[in-house]
Amino acid sequence: MTEIAIAFDVPGLDDALALDEQLGAGPEYAKVGLELFTAAGPEVVRALKARGRRVFLDLKLHDIPNTVKRAAASAARLGADLLTVHALGGAPMVAAAVEGARGGNTRVVAVTILTSFDAFSLPPGMSHPFHGMIVIPQLAEMAIGAGAHGIVCAARDLPFVQQFCRKPLFAVTPGIRPAGAPAHDQIRVSTVTEAVQLGSSLLVLGRPVTGAPDPGAALAAARAERDAAFAPA
Ligand code: C5P
Repeated sequence: MTEIAIAFDVPGLDDALALDEQLGAGPEYAKVGLELFTAAGPEVVRALKARGRRVFLDLKLHDIPNTVKRAAASAARLGADLLTVHALGGAPMVAAAVEGARGGNTRVVAVTILTSFDAFSLPPGMSHPFHGMIVIPQLAEMAIGAGAHGIVCAARDLPFVQQFCRKPLFAVTPGIRPAGAPAHDQIRVSTVTEAVQLGSSLLVLGRPVTGAPDPGAALAAARAERDAAFAPA
């Protein structure tokens, strides 16, 4: 069954706890990203864990292997269930993150290419056919080979990644939008139904839920869409 992570992209601890209350038992993970962690730090992770949440610590680490290893060890001590690193940091860096997290229950997942990125995100001359489905599967294969538990990519990248990696993958897919909803800064977006059908393991939903007048109801709608996508035709 595809699980759901809600991006707790809010300014502080109190907002995070209020959102947690509004969402109830709905999401399988609370995703703590750069905004919230920069403001509220480890305390917010401890607070969400104390409420029984699984925490997806989305810090997208990208530094030299030693630094990333030590940060991953800190995340593991903190009790993060999932931790992101950038695959573009290279195989030694991904391996260092996995090594650092060893001993805890933290699973490292590697971001391939951001869902806000496409071939036009770099100036002409620097642009690369990222969108040409070449780099994303290769980064996924490299990260898995370096010991990552899974990868992060757009749902629409998954068929190419699965073909290339030729084994079942734990695949995290952000950029999820209800049909017709604004994409915001995301580019490579998919609906809940599409992402489930393309084989996503974990859907990341942010603004479509947290920006809704009733986040609990928006999450319930996403869960219903997820469940319907699984139902036999
Ligand atoms: O609001 P929205 O649904 O676009 O939020 C997506 C969340 O997923 C954000 O917290 C963003 O940082 C995160 N994310 C992403 N693309 C990735 C990895 C994580 O959008 N490749």
